[in-house]
Amino acid sequence: MTTTHETTPRTQTPVFDSTAALLVKGYGWLPDLRRRAGGAPAVPVRLAGRRGVALHGSAAVEFFYDERHVRREGALPGPVLDTLFGQGAVHTLDGERHSARKALFTAVLKDEQRIAALVERAEEEWDRAEARWPEHEQVVFFDEAARILTRAVHGWAGVPLPDDDAEAAGTARDLVAMVDGFAAVGPRHLRARWARKRQEERLAPLVEEVRYAGAPSGQSTVVQAVAAHRDADGEQLDPHTGAVELLNLLRPTVAVAWFLTFAAHALHRWPEHRARLAEGAEYALAFAQEVRRFYPFAPFVGGLAATDTRWEDVPVPRGSVVLLDVYGHHHDPELWPEPYVFEPGRFTGRGATAVHDDLIPQGGGDPETGHRCPGEDVTVALLAALAPRLARLPHDVPDQDLSIPLHRIPTRPHSGYVMARVRPDRGGRRPEGRT
Ligand code: HEM
Repeated sequence: MTTTHETTPRTQTPVFDSTAALLVKGYGWLPDLRRRAGGAPAVPVRLAGRRGVALHGSAAVEFFYDERHVRREGALPGPVLDTLFGQGAVHTLDGERHSARKALFTAVLKDEQRIAALVERAEEEWDRAEARWPEHEQVVFFDEAARILTRAVHGWAGVPLPDDDAEAAGTARDLVAMVDGFAAVGPRHLRARWARKRQEERLAPLVEEVRYAGAPSGQSTVVQAVAAHRDADGEQLDPHTGAVELLNLLRPTVAVAWFLTFAAHALHRWPEHRARLAEGAEYALAFAQEVRRFYPFAPFVGGLAATDTRWEDVPVPRGSVVLLDVYGHHHDPELWPEPYVFEPGRFTGRGATAVHDDLIPQGGGDPETGHRCPGEDVTVALLAALAPRLARLPHDVPDQDLSIPLHRIPTRPHSGYVMARVRPDRGGRRPEGRT
């Protein structure tokens, strides 16, 4: 792993390397460390041989997302770049280089019309898939959701996808594998590496082709926007980096399948929310936010200390690892009363700004200027549109393992939520429970 900061961090106390503990304990690793440190808002850590500190709490979010404190270049380990994000991705940039690249993402992802267009495509793909579900004895909802989102995001982005269902399903599997294997060792990780290689090889020539096809008139497609983008140095992205950033739009949209499957889990465990979801958009939005708070996805985010600094009373030496607790943040009773109760009502009537740095499943701070996820509005819109459809879909839930293992990153209900005897939704807004 390379770093731009060569100074040796000077954390005072000896700290054992936690890489193995992280792999074994998953989401429990950081909360455990904090518990052992008496609930301290900052605990020393050592990961992959590098010392650092893990921060927790609202004040820590502000500290972490201040570029004077935390930078990203050299922070992400190779295995994460070679699977999840891609070499040279926006996630690894700082300062002007980051702002220029980030503008590409915010231009397409903060545009209400584009968000609505993506949601519309996802609803159309859902309808197509739903029409076929009654033909099967059982379907695995996670796999179906990933395919629906793969088709929707390709159409939306202007990226060709084979009509052939088997080939399209292969692309969906690759996009899922990149997320599924980034924090694993062994075959899962290898699958993620191969998937990235295949997808980069598919998309790099497309970026070039689109570029040579000339400047579009009117609103460009997403792939045209990627091909035409100019970085801070005024240069267009080389085809590989173009493919990496295109994948940074396609892959995380498909990753919304994780949240949709958590939504399915919530609707099964607490069926009273099915009826509430039929009430309309406000409850659907609140439900989407609670899914993002309650269920585990990103365990933490990380960077490197930009300078010798302190947080609370803990020294944070330049170049040391700085982690921000995400999973623990959403289950802290000081921030979220009764955090282990699934209660969408905690979000009704709360404006978006009121949850800004309390709710950080996709990072904190300002998405325009910092590293906060630019795809948050898309994620919430997809969840709010599709969860009510699931809520009113008549189906059986056969016996299956719906446990969500916390040692696995990223986790999801073990069975993927199997639906049996799916019956056509007659289009009514009548909620159905376990039928
Ligand atoms: C499943 C839902 C999603 C989750 C859990 C998620 C989570 C995250 C997290 C934790 C970060 C890192 C924040 C940081 O480093 O401080 C991030 C960044 C990012 N996300 Fe998402 N995201 C999701 C959906 C999306 C979507 C739908 C898109 C685009 C279509 C997207 C595009 C990005 C990009 C480009 C970045 C890098 C931002 C930067 O470094 O400036 N994400 N996301």
